[in-house]
Amino acid sequence: MRVGGIITALLALAPLVASAPLTRRHYQEVIDGYEIGADIWKRHTAVNVTAAEFYKTPANFTKSSKPGDLLKFEQISRAPLDLQYAIPPSLTLYRMMYVSVDINNLTVPATGFILLPFTPAAKGLKNSSAYPTLVWTHGTAGVTRDCAPTLLRGLYYDFEGPFEFALEGYAVVAPDYAGLGSDTRFDYVAGPPHADDASYSVVAARKSPIAHLLTYEWAVIGHSEGGMAAWFTNEAEHVRPVGGFIGSVSVAPALFTSAYNGSLDYTRPNVSDGIAPVVPASDPPPNIDPPPAPLDTGLYYLMFSIQSAARLNKSIIPENYLTEKGKVAYHLLEQGGCYIAGQYTTSNMTFEDLFTSNDAIEALRGPWLARIQPGGGARKLGGPMLVIQSIDDEAVSFPAVLSAFRGNCQAQPENQIGLHLYSELTHDGTMFGSKYDYVNFLDALFNNHTAAFPVAGKCEETFIPSGTTSFKTYFSYELN
Ligand SMILES: *[C@@H]1O[C@H](CO)[C@@H](O)[C@H](O)[C@H]1NC(C)=O
Ligand SMILES: *[C@@H]1O[C@H](CO)[C@@H](O)[C@H](O)[C@H]1NC(C)=O
Ligand SMILES: *[C@@H]1O[C@H](CO)[C@@H](O)[C@H](O)[C@H]1NC(C)=O
Ligand SMILES: *[C@@H]1O[C@H](CO)[C@@H](O)[C@H](O)[C@H]1NC(C)=O
Ligand SMILES: *[C@@H]1O[C@H](CO)[C@@H](O)[C@H](O)[C@H]1NC(C)=O
Ligand SMILES: *[C@@H]1O[C@H](CO)[C@@H](O)[C@H](O)[C@H]1NC(C)=O
Ligand SMILES: *[C@@H]1O[C@H](CO)[C@@H](O)[C@H](O)[C@H]1NC(C)=O
Ligand SMILES: *[C@@H]1O[C@H](CO)[C@@H](O)[C@H](O)[C@H]1NC(C)=O
Ligand SMILES: *[C@@H]1O[C@H](CO)[C@@H](O)[C@H](O)[C@H]1NC(C)=O
Repeated sequence: MRVGGIITALLALAPLVASAPLTRRHYQEVIDGYEIGADIWKRHTAVNVTAAEFYKTPANFTKSSKPGDLLKFEQISRAPLDLQYAIPPSLTLYRMMYVSVDINNLTVPATGFILLPFTPAAKGLKNSSAYPTLVWTHGTAGVTRDCAPTLLRGLYYDFEGPFEFALEGYAVVAPDYAGLGSDTRFDYVAGPPHADDASYSVVAARKSPIAHLLTYEWAVIGHSEGGMAAWFTNEAEHVRPVGGFIGSVSVAPALFTSAYNGSLDYTRPNVSDGIAPVVPASDPPPNIDPPPAPLDTGLYYLMFSIQSAARLNKSIIPENYLTEKGKVAYHLLEQGGCYIAGQYTTSNMTFEDLFTSNDAIEALRGPWLARIQPGGGARKLGGPMLVIQSIDDEAVSFPAVLSAFRGNCQAQPENQIGLHLYSELTHDGTMFGSKYDYVNFLDALFNNHTAAFPVAGKCEETFIPSGTTSFKTYFSYELN
């Protein structure tokens, strides 16, 4: 779940075999999978995006709207807060619609939420009595309007992200990304527009009725697609600063770059905890109901990526890359249901079931990446940046992140950028396992504790060993 669109990771799949003739039953299998997944997504959903007045573009969004203009701002009242949203007690939730900028530099409506802790004293910043403003950029939720975190009972990442940040004392400002929620086109894993959604959510929050509660200083943290967004936000704050930016954390960024021309060698340190073997628990097997999610093949990320490429280049016809079965899955996913529908629709599929040719898809890759992630993550930064990655991430590949990090650090010796590496943590597990690490770093940013910032030009790669080697790795809870 929650990962980036990884064409690279999908290229090493089995060689093509001739597809067996399809029967109705084959399509039915796709449709059944889709319906199970879409239904689960609906159960996670608090608000129907097409029915809710809030998500309609208002009349005062016009050609003369400026990025960062606030269009709508709502407090979720206590009763719906308890009934619709599954956020922890003591937190306050607001929703906003504001003006952002799309991949063609046109203004668009965007939505997002702000989640506040119980009291501004919670963080105890030396420098301020306001809540420290932390922008959260989420990972892949999907590519349709119904995938916006503001629509979901757990705000999509629940305790993996925004709940924990708010409980730590941060005011969490969280863009949905324009086109998720708001009625405009969404461009998947597109760095510059996601960065605009992040920066202009801060500008809009400064125009809201709670502006005085927020520090002018702000940092950004994101995971996966959002790790990439946090990276591009930091770069954007160098070229078009909105003011107050102090730095970023990029966890498992879905940044697909070829900017680095050096070696990607890395010597993995040995980890052993020195603990004598402990007797494993002998409980009877658990009674698991509902059954665990099916195998996540990740094939839907490739569908999202092809859709993104086709949206940006009208001569790309998605159907040309899809088998008959793939076309059924693709068109169902265009109707909504987000990553969970994607997961169920493709869980029993192979690459050859859904896609016609590896080579043809590979040919899309270069021009698409140049369009969605210009500069390849190797540009000047607006503030210090901590990159966090697990060597064993199953979704965003370690060499890709190493390449992005080394590429940025090599190209821009004045950047304050550092890499913290973990082992054995999964893609989502990294958000949990590195929490103390990024919270310390964010505190250092807000307190201007410059000694804790990465040193420019040093390109430091720090391995963080685990205290035990028997920790849980699999992400197996769902908030309903
Ligand atoms: C995948 O296949 C298994 C075995 O055929 C079946 O039980 C399961 O329902 C299928 N899952 C989906 C999501 O279609
Ligand atoms: C959302 O509301 C629309 C009407 O605006 C309705 O057609 C649709 O079925 C609803 N979707 C869900 C998931 O309830
Ligand atoms: C748009 O209209 C709403 C509702 O009247 C108002 O609250 C908001 O400030 C307006 N925004 C702009 C930028 O005009
Ligand atoms: C959008 O604006 C930025 C900054 O002015 C520029 O670098 C970029 O090329 C523009 N993009 C498009 C698609 O015009
Ligand atoms: C890791 O441990 C193995 C086995 O003890 C040893 O052969 C290897 O040299 C060690 N590697 C490092 C990098 O320390
Ligand atoms: C658009 O796609 C076509 C067909 O794949 C390709 O020939 C062309 O170069 C692409 N254009 C751009 C701007 O990437
Ligand atoms: C690699 O890139 C760096 C800076 O981006 C450049 O200085 C260097 O000449 C390049 N090396 C090769 C072998 O292309
Ligand atoms: C600290 O407070 C001073 C004075 O109000 C302000 O200029 C500065 O930007 C603040 N720094 C941080 C990191 O909050
Ligand atoms: C942070 O500290 C450095 C040096 O210690 C100082 O130059 C800089 O102005 C400070 N920044 C803020 C925002 O206070």
